[in-house]
Amino acid sequence: MLNALHPQPQDKILQLIQMYKDDPRDTKIDLGVGVYKDATGLTPVMRAVKAAERQLWEVENTKTYTGLAGDPAYAEAMQDLLLDGTVPADRLSAVATPGGTGAIRQALELIRLATPEATVWLSNPTWPNHPSIIKYLGMRMAEYRYFDTESRGVDFDGLLADLAAVKPGDVVLLHGCCHNPTGANLTLPQWKAVADLLEKTGAIPFIDIAYQGFGDGLEEDAAGLRLMAKRMPEMLIAASCSKNFGIYRERTGILIAVSPKAEMRATVQGNLAFLNRQNYSFPPDHGARLVTMILNDPALREDWQAELEEVRLNMLSLREQLATELRRLSGSDRFGFLAQHRGMFSRLGATPEQVEALRRDHGIYMVGDSRMNIAGLNARTVPILAKAIIGVGV
Ligand code: LMR
Repeated sequence: MLNALHPQPQDKILQLIQMYKDDPRDTKIDLGVGVYKDATGLTPVMRAVKAAERQLWEVENTKTYTGLAGDPAYAEAMQDLLLDGTVPADRLSAVATPGGTGAIRQALELIRLATPEATVWLSNPTWPNHPSIIKYLGMRMAEYRYFDTESRGVDFDGLLADLAAVKPGDVVLLHGCCHNPTGANLTLPQWKAVADLLEKTGAIPFIDIAYQGFGDGLEEDAAGLRLMAKRMPEMLIAASCSKNFGIYRERTGILIAVSPKAEMRATVQGNLAFLNRQNYSFPPDHGARLVTMILNDPALREDWQAELEEVRLNMLSLREQLATELRRLSGSDRFGFLAQHRGMFSRLGATPEQVEALRRDHGIYMVGDSRMNIAGLNARTVPILAKAIIGVGV
């Protein structure tokens, strides 16, 4: 049996982790995988997470199973964080999942279960694991234009023109905030225009939100999602706690389904629980429990929000520093987009050859499409990166 297997393509983002590790140069800079790092290069455990872990160690007296959907308190706390009451609770179903990727996978399986013929529309570009999972599940997919390579902003006319072709029942995957890989985001009026279009066509929004709090703030980053939720009868939301709680390895995510009517809730919830049972039975609990404790305890929540805000402001400051340094070196404003983008990532707009030269000649690692993780920088490495970017001719 095993000799029937063929080698699988390596994930382009995860591949960089090993390449970076294997590079002996101590001047190397890692701007690859989307993980937040402080100025010392550490991905710290957040203070509120440490405090919640300490409390949990004291009070937790069993590790028996939770429910198939996870702890209902986690679902409630996350629904509140994401939706803030914009949808009545009796229209919401939710399951805890292993990370945001688990939520995406379960959402796609739910779509396939309900409407196997539906096409899932993805932004071009998008996080590479989106098309990879859809292809693996044998589902239909299509792309809509998203990024304008000239302005490095959103190609909104292209987006609207392409999405005009969606059919009723198709699913449109949108990044809730901090678009991965480009860093270019929809404005609120643009979210409204997308909602108008989806409403008219009868397509269903599926929002992947993995960076709430990393862009313009916790509330601001959920504004597009809430606008959609208020308007659309049906919607799927895949959320991750990996980044905003810094609990990457705990695999903490959630899938939320918004139903048009309260009467449908039990069936939708049953299907979500069924999918959990088929794929991995009970979802992981440790990270979800920490998140619930933090969100429900005013002191922990305040400290978490304060630290998240420090993280966000640090990334914004790095963006400003890099854009300023590139303005100085290039004598032009052509890198100003770096300060406009939001979240961890920006697509630099370098060619694959220039990305390769940055890696080979300068030990600077970014994804092949020139996606940079801004959080991989610090005040010392910003000028080094800027000089290298100009040096390779970007
Ligand atoms: C990324 O895009 O770098 C992160 O979401 C990590 C991953 O799993 O790819």
